[in-house]
Amino acid sequence: MAAAHTSTAQTNVSFDAGEYLIRTLTAADASDRWAVWMADPEVRHSLNVAPRRMTRVEIANYIKTFDQRSSLLWGIFAKRTGAHIGFFTVQADYARSQGLVNLLVGEPEYRNHGVLSAIRRQFAEYFFDTLGLRTMMATALARNEIIVNTLLKAGWTINQTLKQNVVDHATGAKLDLCLLSLSRKAWRARNKPKDRPV
Ligand SMILES: CC(C)(COP(=O)(O)OP(=O)(O)OC[C@H]1O[C@@H](n2cnc3c(N)ncnc32)[C@H](O)[C@@H]1OP(=O)(O)O)[C@@H](O)C(=O)NCCC(=O)NCCS
Repeated sequence: MAAAHTSTAQTNVSFDAGEYLIRTLTAADASDRWAVWMADPEVRHSLNVAPRRMTRVEIANYIKTFDQRSSLLWGIFAKRTGAHIGFFTVQADYARSQGLVNLLVGEPEYRNHGVLSAIRRQFAEYFFDTLGLRTMMATALARNEIIVNTLLKAGWTINQTLKQNVVDHATGAKLDLCLLSLSRKAWRARNKPKDRPV
């Protein structure tokens, strides 16, 4: 399995998710909008992003840190307008058959408008079936109830909550961090072809 997933074919992913296209990002996708996303108070609160405005060059350099083999960075694009609205990261550990995923719907007007709901199934299919990984993992601040609740509703498990594990950039307070996972087996049990969302 591992050998197949280090092939160059995996470095240029593109797949269709209804109204959205998901594809591998390159440094050319760095944008001023992306910098604005990271400065958004809601994103800072949800993800505990440091209160410093990133530049487009820093974002391009960030994109280049992804080898797109074990460290994947995929953009989410609205097909109707072509707009880049967010991104996924996957830190894959093929030896352990697991991957840590992160998601940001960056454009505020797209948040809470069904983007995750529209793309989560195709994303999980790619993760479990194409990448062949057995366990999807995520971390979320316990205060980020939106993501924690929707993951639990979709069959994820909170494996552990690390108490006072993260220092809040805004206040210096210590925040609880949830470690969550979803197994391929659990996902497949809930997702017979073409019935339920992830
Ligand atoms: C959290 C986030 C990924 C959700 O994506 P989204 O496209 O906005 O979500 P959707 O509109 O598809 O809704 C998904 C679920 O979240 C719920 N939800 C979304 N926004 C919500 C809000 N503001 N308040 C309450 N529930 C909300 C929806 O009701 C839906 O619930 P369901 O489990 O019953 O289906 C996105 O809003 C985001 O990127 N937020 C900032 C960064 C972040 O928190 N990332 C997660 C890091 S682990």
